[in-house]
Amino acid sequence: MYTEGISEATAKQKTWTMPQLVAQKGQTPIVMVTAYDATMAKLVDDYVDVILIGDSLGMVVQGHSNTIPVTLEEIIYHSRMVARASRHACVVADMPFMSYQASVEEAVRSAGRLLKEGHAHAIKLEGGLPIVPQVRAIVDAGIPVVGHLGVTPQSIHALGGYGKQGKSDAGAKALLEAALALDGAGCSMLVLENILHELAQEVTQSVRACTIGIGAGPHCDGQVQVFHDLVGMFPDFTPRHAKRFFEGGAGIRTAMEAYAKEVRSGKFLSK
Ligand code: KIV
Repeated sequence: MYTEGISEATAKQKTWTMPQLVAQKGQTPIVMVTAYDATMAKLVDDYVDVILIGDSLGMVVQGHSNTIPVTLEEIIYHSRMVARASRHACVVADMPFMSYQASVEEAVRSAGRLLKEGHAHAIKLEGGLPIVPQVRAIVDAGIPVVGHLGVTPQSIHALGGYGKQGKSDAGAKALLEAALALDGAGCSMLVLENILHELAQEVTQSVRACTIGIGAGPHCDGQVQVFHDLVGMFPDFTPRHAKRFFEGGAGIRTAMEAYAKEVRSGKFLSK
């Protein structure tokens, strides 16, 4: 059991299940954050309701310029570490690019592996109407599904950038239509990334699923952020929607500088 550093009360706390979280819609806002390994999971687990093993790990952990290269094997590897260390949060694993788009059967098998081998409790996939059959089949296989609309980073080459989606009347109508279809197919949650606040509000009021915003304003049923953005540990790029609560990157640099100085001067091992 991986319980060091976790209070007795927290160790006894039940893990959030997806149905319990969905039942919270419209009540206490749901807190979701990404984590990619056991240490991170232990640090965040006491404070959040959902931990997402996001394919953002392709950028903030692996150093790629987008999420496209991330593989199913890699998400399984990271998900297993997170699931091993979390006690309280519902663990959601991202389905990476090309693990679900090609066919319904492949989507169900990939989702199944994320639960069976990655020990996740639910999966997340990106996209609207074209992936509704996949969502329905995954839900029918007994796997809770989180959808993802608006800016869908796996489609970055088709979208042409990370700018706000659903700005035109036609775009907003299409996004609402997609949200309703995903909701009807059984999604438990819908991540809404970088869309107009009023559109996020309309979607939130129109669906049974819990909406989780990232750059989508205050009217969603919950919020999600990338861990590294919250703690100042991703120097390459700071999204406009990110709020930094801690200068982790600067703190680590200061610690490393002090360590290197002590070793080089001989002070490190001297009494
Ligand atoms: O990959 C990820 O971390 C995500 C969140 C930003 C929602 O999809």
